[in-house]
Amino acid sequence: MVQLQLQLQLPSLFLASFFSAPAASFSAGPRRRLHRRPTSSSAAAAEMDAANPSTAMYPLHRCKTIYLVRHAQGIHNVEGEKDHSAYMSPAYFDAHLTPLGWKQVDCLHEHVKNCGLAEKVELVITSPLLRTMQTAVGVFGGGDCIDGVGSPLMVKNAGHSDRPAISSLNRPPFLAVEACREHLGVHPCDKRRSITEYRTLFPAIDFSLIENDEDVLWEPNVREANASVAARGMKFIDWLWTREEKEIAIVSHSGFLYHTLSMYSKESHPTIREEVGKHFANCELRSIVLVDTRSVLCPYVSMACFAFLMQWLVSMLQCAWVKSPQLQLSWKDSS
Ligand SMILES: *[C@@H]1O[C@H](CO)[C@@H](O)[C@H](O)[C@H]1NC(C)=O
Repeated sequence: MVQLQLQLQLPSLFLASFFSAPAASFSAGPRRRLHRRPTSSSAAAAEMDAANPSTAMYPLHRCKTIYLVRHAQGIHNVEGEKDHSAYMSPAYFDAHLTPLGWKQVDCLHEHVKNCGLAEKVELVITSPLLRTMQTAVGVFGGGDCIDGVGSPLMVKNAGHSDRPAISSLNRPPFLAVEACREHLGVHPCDKRRSITEYRTLFPAIDFSLIENDEDVLWEPNVREANASVAARGMKFIDWLWTREEKEIAIVSHSGFLYHTLSMYSKESHPTIREEVGKHFANCELRSIVLVDTRSVLCPYVSMACFAFLMQWLVSMLQCAWVKSPQLQLSWKDSS
């Protein structure tokens, strides 16, 4: 099981949201606690702090940072936000970004460049739909292409973008992964094109993990349920541990991000739940810390099991050695 921490922009507002920890452990921030603590009963306070620590510690090598991004405004969002039934329109099949969407992409591109995130990200994972791939290459891609240098992340004017080609020069690998797609089915905007078609538009994106050229996951009459999206999201997050990269950008969709984060924050303090429980705006970025609790807990679990087994074995042996002479004795006594 993976745990998530929400990292706010200001370090002083850092909040832990370990969902397996009791909610009581979040009752007071460390600073307020310092002011509150009476000096006369410092021993009692220390005891209380030990029982209810407000900080969780994990070795850094068991953590990853993920940068979750929802795609920028797509043509389907404009009408769909006014009237939800617009999402049913075939005109929005595999919706591409609007001019405003590209402006949002440019803003986030500048932001990730200026704050150093662009250099930190080692891998960009994107849902294989036009709007997410346009957002991914626009935000985390290089500048304009220089002729003959590497294959571009996006060719000129891909998906009505009215943009020059985007370079892959000095950029991390871009990987398309179906597991982070939006709710599957029914809405044409959530249906993808063939991988063959995408490869010509996004030559430097790696599509090798996608099994089917055509979109076999999208069904016209069945909309994927919230719980199923959340389960898929948790599986996807667990899959991230198979990757070596520590800093991973993930460009996905509103429903996918919302239901996945909501599932992880279910047991968290209400403050965290409220923060996580907001839908992402178009092109919003949230930084999240993942903690691999399997590798933290498993050795202890198996050691506990081992200790229990040894105890059981010893008691069985004791039974064999101690009880049988007693039985013999009592048998002798009664004779
Ligand atoms: C699924 O989640 C959305 C929020 O994204 C909510 O509006 C909707 O009612 C949920 N559907 C069901 C069937 O619970």
